[in-house]
Amino acid sequence: MSDRKAKLTVGDKSYEFDILDGTVGPSVIDIRSLYAQTGLFTYDPGFTSTAACDSSITYIDGDVGELLYRGYSIDQLAEKSNYLEVCFLLLYGELPTAVEKEEFESRITRHTMLHEQMHYLYRGFRRDAHPMAIVCGVVGAMAAFYHDSTDITDPEQREIASIRMIAKMPTIAAMAYKYSIGQPFVYPRNDLSYAGNFLNMCFAVPAETYKVNPIIERAMDRIFTLHADHEQNASTSTVRLSGSSDANPFACIAAGVACLWGPAHGGANEAALNMLRAIGTPDRIPEFVAKAKDKNDPFRLMGFGHRVYKSYDPRAQVMQETAREVLDLMGIENNPTLQVARELEKIALEDEYFVTRKLYPNVDFYSGIILDAIGFPTSMFTAIFALSRTVGWIAQWKEMIGDPQKKIGRPRQLYDGSRRRDYVPLTQR
Ligand code: CMC
Repeated sequence: MSDRKAKLTVGDKSYEFDILDGTVGPSVIDIRSLYAQTGLFTYDPGFTSTAACDSSITYIDGDVGELLYRGYSIDQLAEKSNYLEVCFLLLYGELPTAVEKEEFESRITRHTMLHEQMHYLYRGFRRDAHPMAIVCGVVGAMAAFYHDSTDITDPEQREIASIRMIAKMPTIAAMAYKYSIGQPFVYPRNDLSYAGNFLNMCFAVPAETYKVNPIIERAMDRIFTLHADHEQNASTSTVRLSGSSDANPFACIAAGVACLWGPAHGGANEAALNMLRAIGTPDRIPEFVAKAKDKNDPFRLMGFGHRVYKSYDPRAQVMQETAREVLDLMGIENNPTLQVARELEKIALEDEYFVTRKLYPNVDFYSGIILDAIGFPTSMFTAIFALSRTVGWIAQWKEMIGDPQKKIGRPRQLYDGSRRRDYVPLTQR
């Protein structure tokens, strides 16, 4: 707590509230007693000025474009670490020792298979279902298959549920893909890395072996790492709000998947690539930039702008480098979509509309280009985001459940509907 106090004057009465300091970043005014003291609520749709929890997992400084997982910068982690090590860091707070790392990797690797009965669940979906619809349904259904890890009051069960979620998400997403293209499911392989196994489950077929390319494997691992957590974004807040009612962890993660699907959030990577393809050639960029600036047109440049980053998204920078590596490998560095992306980025970064609103490319601007080059259809992009973000959701959920101050989330409202009125019989309406 800081020595500073916040004073609020309402009419002729004044109230004092504590100011709480974090390690870094903006302090907060503790208004928990506001309603009891004043009979007033605060009003903040979209939570633009509201901290809904305290957390020690991820820190973002949106003004300078900094993202830290447990204090470690995303650039260093993307360069020197790998996704499973980052998962350990997010879940347990510290980088693992060599022994811890090996144990954790082996534990995740040994939980990658799905209950065999779940294969039938997939067959209930239409083949043309969006993979996110399938992933959302299958994750929610896990509560029906893994009863022994749904008691959230038992720390051991919470731990098992966490490991299961992180281990099985790639299998769930890969099976959604295989189902949509009518190919047989490919079982996980314990001799492959987390990213390598996911690629194999997506691209191997029984008729021939699939060799995981180390550059593609590294790019996949980076995509997972860069999306692993992002503090209290919409889907993470959805997971926390769902978990605040003591709902089981699989139901909470399914809620997070549903929220992530929206094009303003995780769905933006799919929308960004579709937009780049719709633009087609650099000469059509001015037309689309004009549409994005037109207040009477709902069109937005997908992959641009962020609620928190008012500077270059640090994840976008790593993505851009990774895109170059992958496209070089494929010998397609001159592909038209990448040309449109580079040109659009250049134009938007110089345009007064984007400059004054601090609209920079975000993580989703380049990730779609990489995923497309690897061979994923756009409909899989958000499912890959969901599998990467699962560890963040789980870490945030565990942090909340373990917090003795946890309360059910229950926002209030400014009511502007009708006052009390009498029921009118049908014949008199
Ligand atoms: N294209 C054109 N104008 C934009 C864009 C954009 N992509 N983003 C924001 N603006 C304008 C907006 O019209 C508003 O202008 P004005 O002040 O004149 O009314 C101003 O910038 C502020 O926008 P806002 O909607 O108040 O900002 P927000 O913080 O509520 O929205 C956002 C953030 C990410 C939803 C938004 O920038 C957006 O819709 N971007 C496109 C979708 C996208 O790429 N989403 C992925 C986010 S990163 C991945 C993730 O974390 O999920």
